[in-house]
Amino acid sequence: MKLTAESRNGSAPITGALESQCWIDRWLSTCHDLANLELSNPMMDAVIDEIDGRMIRVGERWLADFASCNYLGFDLESEIIAAVPAYLERWGTHPSWSRMLGSPVLYEQIEERLCELLGCEDALVLPTITLIHMSVIPVLAGGGTIFMENRAHKTIYDGCHYAAARGATLKRFQSDAPDDLERLLLEDNSKPRLICVDGINSMTGNATDLEVLAHLARTYDALLYVDDAHGFGVIGERDPSELCPYGNRGNGIVRHLGENYDQIVLVSGFSKSYSSLAAFLTCTPALKRLLKTAAPPYLYSGPSPIASLATTLAGFDLNEKRGDLLRADLWRKTATVLECLDELGIHTPNRSGHPIIEVPLADHEDIGAAGRFLFENGIYVTLAAYPLVPRNEVGFRIQVTASNSQAEIDQLVDVLGKLANGFDLQPSKRAEEAA
Ligand SMILES: Cc1ncc(COP(=O)(O)O)c(C=O)c1O
Repeated sequence: MKLTAESRNGSAPITGALESQCWIDRWLSTCHDLANLELSNPMMDAVIDEIDGRMIRVGERWLADFASCNYLGFDLESEIIAAVPAYLERWGTHPSWSRMLGSPVLYEQIEERLCELLGCEDALVLPTITLIHMSVIPVLAGGGTIFMENRAHKTIYDGCHYAAARGATLKRFQSDAPDDLERLLLEDNSKPRLICVDGINSMTGNATDLEVLAHLARTYDALLYVDDAHGFGVIGERDPSELCPYGNRGNGIVRHLGENYDQIVLVSGFSKSYSSLAAFLTCTPALKRLLKTAAPPYLYSGPSPIASLATTLAGFDLNEKRGDLLRADLWRKTATVLECLDELGIHTPNRSGHPIIEVPLADHEDIGAAGRFLFENGIYVTLAAYPLVPRNEVGFRIQVTASNSQAEIDQLVDVLGKLANGFDLQPSKRAEEAA
């Protein structure tokens, strides 16, 4: 079936193979499982009428929210909420200059705090990670080659494709296969060379092999560009005093793995762990100066709202005071869910203990029914349909936050048990080996 304007608008079901010459129809064809779910499943595109802690109300139904990326629960912290009005009094709600036209001093304060927390030389704040990928990757890649991990986040893909349209060559290497990357680096002599990867993968919750990739980048004179949207705020530097294996301070994957920023650009955002609309990259002062004129979002994009700059700054304070305790609590709650899956013999790719827990279904066609089952049993998760994940990984993603109550975790564990009785889930590797 050819996708019509009518079906694009949602008034007709989207089924069948789509053929088209046009990229938008090809893309819509790729997304048609997702579009069908969006039309039919209460877990997709829901309107949230009310929240109460980490409980959300959709229509008449209250659900425990396991789809939020507010890992540390900063969105609900009274200390952070209370900090906002004073900033609004002083700055109004919105600066409405692009950063080049004028940056409230709050940006400088955030960049200074970032340098101190991350241990990097300099940092640049822009509104979102997506805008950073779309504007910084093309500048760093120039007319050279980008080596992109094949499981990198869609927003990295888009940034790389934009760079390719501007003259860069794009090559993909297999995730978790540094040999494949090395082979490509050896056969390509162009300059500059940029390696783009996810830090903590947004679906599996596992960390990339940063030490090996950093070594390859340094050996082959490339720059390693790491999207750590999900790691920053959760994982941090290791220390014998640490309260849990996430480490201390939540200062991201580079510090967590004992690396430094030599030939590494770390990109992350505040919109997950810090519950604020802003993002950043680490850089040298020279790169920062270049990006001020070469990266369009610095010149042209609307800025983060003052409330977000305020909650970012208040978030740094709270992170210093209580961040490690919150992370220890998050670790424990996540471990409860992972242990439950293990006891039920259900597979998850999560090997790290990170609060992203993907549960693939045995049959990808069950996703609609499984989503409805979870919803009807009061559990809200992210449905992972094709093409968000490959077909053999279609399922759902649970995200745990420090502000999920013990009662919500218990409810999740109970519902997962019921789900395992009614649906075919992929067996855990350990269960398979034992059978
Ligand atoms: C790995 C990763 N990168 C980038 C983004 C997009 O971030 P932003 O909303 O700051 O553009 C996300 C959002 O979920 C993500 O998971």
